[in-house]
Amino acid sequence: MNRRKFLQSSAAMATVAMANRPLMSLAEEIRLANDENFWKIIRAQYEVTDDIINLEAGYWGIMSIPVTQAYMRNVHFVNQNSSYYVRRKYGQDYNAIIKRLALKLGVREDELVLTRNATEALQSLINGYNKLKPGDSIIYADLDYGSMQSEMRYLEKYRKVTVVKINLPEPASYENIIAAYEQALNDNPKCKMILLTHVSNRTGLITPVKEIAAMAKARGVDVILDAAHSWGQFDFDFQSLGVDFVGFNLHKWIGVPLGVGLLYIRKDRILDIDPLRGEGGPDNDNVRTRVHTGTMNFAAVRTIPAALDFRENIGIKNIEKRLRSLRNQWVDGVIDNKKVEILTPQDPRMYAGITSFRLKGKTSYEENHALMNKLTDDYGIFTVAIRDIYNGAGIRVSPSLYNSREDADKLAAAINQITS
Ligand SMILES: Cc1ncc(COP(=O)(O)O)c(C=O)c1O
Repeated sequence: MNRRKFLQSSAAMATVAMANRPLMSLAEEIRLANDENFWKIIRAQYEVTDDIINLEAGYWGIMSIPVTQAYMRNVHFVNQNSSYYVRRKYGQDYNAIIKRLALKLGVREDELVLTRNATEALQSLINGYNKLKPGDSIIYADLDYGSMQSEMRYLEKYRKVTVVKINLPEPASYENIIAAYEQALNDNPKCKMILLTHVSNRTGLITPVKEIAAMAKARGVDVILDAAHSWGQFDFDFQSLGVDFVGFNLHKWIGVPLGVGLLYIRKDRILDIDPLRGEGGPDNDNVRTRVHTGTMNFAAVRTIPAALDFRENIGIKNIEKRLRSLRNQWVDGVIDNKKVEILTPQDPRMYAGITSFRLKGKTSYEENHALMNKLTDDYGIFTVAIRDIYNGAGIRVSPSLYNSREDADKLAAAINQITS
């Protein structure tokens, strides 16, 4: 059987099996998370190129076959029905999707609005946050996403505030990350707002958001949370984080088609974010006036339910366990190699699927770029070189549900051979 036929038959088999499966018991979830046959079926739900082992899912998550098929049907549907659909029925579909997303996050429907990506959501929040007065300060960290750092820096000119950048410790620990923010808050008593990144795109580090947000709140400091990499990668209780302003995307770890993000503003905080360019008047409390996307990819939006179905059928706890185990598979293979530095702590509270490494002493971006190319060209393994980590650059590894344990083993073997 050729690869395509195998994929199609297993995908069909798995789709039927998954569609008929009742909600799983915890014991069943744990069994499945460790069951290689189960993951083989899930892997077969993805049609990925044979040209390369793709360990760079952090850019975005490719769609599974059922989601791709739903998307293709939706592209066809939207194209066929055009403005007739969008003007008359899209609003209902949109509201139903928002309702489902709100239910999943445990928030109100009128606290969410779709965007085209996390960048758009976070730019609206950072730029629109209107509680800053000249002379106040705001804080962000070196591991925050580049364009969010720029957006924060822009507030110096736009809101006349002092913008403070802190460097997060490397190696990081649960305690020293919290301590770094505590120190920054102590050093900047005029701080009114901080940007936190739930999962760093540079190292995969999970920030202890709950603890830092509580600390900030106790001092009257607001948190804007960049959740571009967290929702869908691991299981967490969104409500318990205690954050009022959040930007997500759905095209990384939820697996929807490219071009869908989400903005959350807690209902009683809506007036603290300006309506976009005066839209709807300053006192209106409709979250949908806090962003203006222009024309969206309607077919991508209509595909959100299919992506949620797919992932809910697997179960977020299972997804998290699988991503962690793929991560541990390659990390365990190199952890005793004295020439390798793992840049993400081994504390399970601080990582999920993504982890970065560098070869000891190789801190320049150029060296890491060359290593990325070597892994690609000589070993057929695709990763990405990452710059601007405190002690230098590194290589980010982000596996996904289409990867196997063998993929992770091949990476570890390649690193060990390169350093031998
Ligand atoms: C931490 C982080 N924030 C924000 C973004 C931007 O996400 P989007 O591409 O959805 O705008 C990314 C994308 O890689 C990211 O890694």
